Amino acid sequence: MEDRFVTPLNIKEDCDIEYSLRPKRLKEYIGQEKVKEKLDIFIRAAKNRGEALDHVLLYGPPGLGKTTLANIIAEEMTGNLKVTSGPAIERAGDLAAILTSLNDFDVLFIDEIHRLNRSVEEILYPAMEDGALDIVIGKGASAKSIRLDLAKFTLIGATTRVGLLTSPLRDRFGVLCPMEFYEEDELKEIIIRSAGILGVSITEDAAYELSMRSRGTPRIANRILKRVRDYSEVKGNGIIDLKTSKNAMKLLEIDDEGFDSIDNKILTAIIDNFNGGPVGIETLAYFIGEELDTIQDVYEPYLLQKGFILRTPRGRVATDKVYKHFKRLKEEHKELNQCTINIHN
Ligand SMILES: Nc1ncnc2c1ncn2[C@@H]1O[C@H](COP(=O)(O)OP(=O)(O)OP(=O)(O)O)[C@@H](O)[C@H]1O
Ligand SMILES: [Mg+2]
Repeated sequence: MEDRFVTPLNIKEDCDIEYSLRPKRLKEYIGQEKVKEKLDIFIRAAKNRGEALDHVLLYGPPGLGKTTLANIIAEEMTGNLKVTSGPAIERAGDLAAILTSLNDFDVLFIDEIHRLNRSVEEILYPAMEDGALDIVIGKGASAKSIRLDLAKFTLIGATTRVGLLTSPLRDRFGVLCPMEFYEEDELKEIIIRSAGILGVSITEDAAYELSMRSRGTPRIANRILKRVRDYSEVKGNGIIDLKTSKNAMKLLEIDDEGFDSIDNKILTAIIDNFNGGPVGIETLAYFIGEELDTIQDVYEPYLLQKGFILRTPRGRVATDKVYKHFKRLKEEHKELNQCTINIHN
């Protein structure tokens, strides 16, 4: 998995650039127009009223800018940002300690919020709803519950698996932000912006070429840009043009849909080994030797969004796009062709 160049997951080599390439303010943030508009209005309204922003849930595939948005919201609300994650909070007491340390207008960011354990999650309900913490003191018959008021804070939850959130938790978020894959012209703009920050020259057509291969994902766009910069420094004159971009993509084995060998394996398995589907996702994962979760979270969303596969109650089905992409004939077309040949004979 880690070896995969076009993974949308954060890999070690992204860390050194992610920070500097992250937009700091909402108006610098490219794309996600619906989410941006919503946040802009709610942030302004909250500020005008002198209140904290309502709790925000950011959800969508990896690498689309959830952490970046959490940072931007804290910046716009002029509060401090505290960052933690679902698996990092082991006990209810840990979360209670974090909540009581917050000041007015602070933002608490819980990444991978679907991985909070149940007892920790229950602390969040009154905290989100009433801005209070219920603490039980003592045990048995003498146990007493006291309520502690918290500062006016905003909780931002992020998840790639919104379906795994319990409904009491999901219902307590006032602002729901579904993140979508980026359009090519938005990715092109992100690539040009990043090139500017990195001090790299890139032509417009090259930026567009790279945007088409970035799987709708800014993290991948930035990673590709970095590799193509290396390529152009060694093989060219340091300027990224269309030819350099295409050659570098060939070297990285990323095709013009942004697919790599694993996508190819998934798609060809469906058409060659399962007759185009439907095939159950578990069977498919087992067949190609990848983790089920990884297929569902990482590979599949983009293939679904691009219309290469369909999710049906009986399993995944390859669409005509797959046959076209691999220049294959569909079984039924093969039969038809066979008939035509027979007739002509
Ligand atoms: N709208 C955007 N404009 C410009 N750059 C962006 C945008 N969104 C994301 N990026 C870039 O993509 C990188 C990845 O974004 P980020 O870490 O926020 O994704 P994420 O959704 O939190 O991913 P994960 O689910 O893996 O935590 C950032 O470093 C940032 O440089
Ligand atoms: Mg993140």
